[in-house]
Amino acid sequence: AQKIIIDTDPGQDDAVAILLALASPEIEVLGIVAVAGNVPLALTQLNARKVVELSGREVPVFAGCDRPLDRDLVTAEHVHGKTGLDGIELPDPRLPLQDRHGVDFIIDTLRAEPAGSITLVPIGPLTNIALAFRRAPDIIDRVQRIVLMGGAYFEVGNITPAAEFNIFVDPEAAAEVFAAGVPLVVMPLDVTHKALTSRDWVDQMRALPGRCGPAVAGWTDFFERFDTAKYGSEGAPLHDPCTIAWLLDPDLFQGRQINVEIETQGRWTTGMTVADWWRVSDRPANALFIKDVDRDRLFTLIRDRIATLG
Ligand code: BDR
Ligand code: CA
Repeated sequence: AQKIIIDTDPGQDDAVAILLALASPEIEVLGIVAVAGNVPLALTQLNARKVVELSGREVPVFAGCDRPLDRDLVTAEHVHGKTGLDGIELPDPRLPLQDRHGVDFIIDTLRAEPAGSITLVPIGPLTNIALAFRRAPDIIDRVQRIVLMGGAYFEVGNITPAAEFNIFVDPEAAAEVFAAGVPLVVMPLDVTHKALTSRDWVDQMRALPGRCGPAVAGWTDFFERFDTAKYGSEGAPLHDPCTIAWLLDPDLFQGRQINVEIETQGRWTTGMTVADWWRVSDRPANALFIKDVDRDRLFTLIRDRIATLG
């Protein structure tokens, strides 16, 4: 199985990504590291444990950084609700939070496992990953690849006119990760805004036996309100599950191998992913930047996998 570490700020769409990974036998989740993002760390680590417990699987959950490298934390309760995981009530988890700091877990695991065997899947701000690389540069070459949700090109911004949330919250961290030389697969808003739930799919999820399908329906119903009000689009964007879906079936997606730089000093554009889609610079490609997805197959995959969790 493909070994991964999920770095996350749950978040309803993060939660669906976690369930999708835990439901997939091709993937072995070595650990889940929480980061401050959609809501503060105290909530993201709690939410991560709630989601693991809901899945019925056992995976260690760690707390990473509680704030960006060089900035104050910006959160997104306006999208995700006060808890970060509004939409359904989940019991307090019995699953304990691990003692070790999440950044140490990332470093130790990359050192302990064979080089090139671990994929990092960051679906929140990139603080933990950047700090791990700063503290232990020897691990950078040991990462197989990074498959992340963040950024935008044609769709530009969702937290400022120019920036997507995950990159905007910690642009310095993002800049370091994008410059690290690790092969990157990037799921920007350009593709995730095409991964919109349909009424029919949400109803199918709600009708699944067990607890996970109805939980996903509750989350996406809550999440949808924001996008409908804001963009007039129907359905909730399942941003973060696109990363796990790419690992399961990369043929679902289409993109280009291009250069992407992160703006950290913009007057208006801090956190922008400056994506050289048309290859007008001579800067070398550092990312597979995804733009399109086979929506029907994506949603069938998510439904069928989460159905196996019960
Ligand atoms: C990203 O920001 C968060 O609100 C979502 O969980 C996703 O990771 C989308 O911009
Ligand atoms: Ca997220």
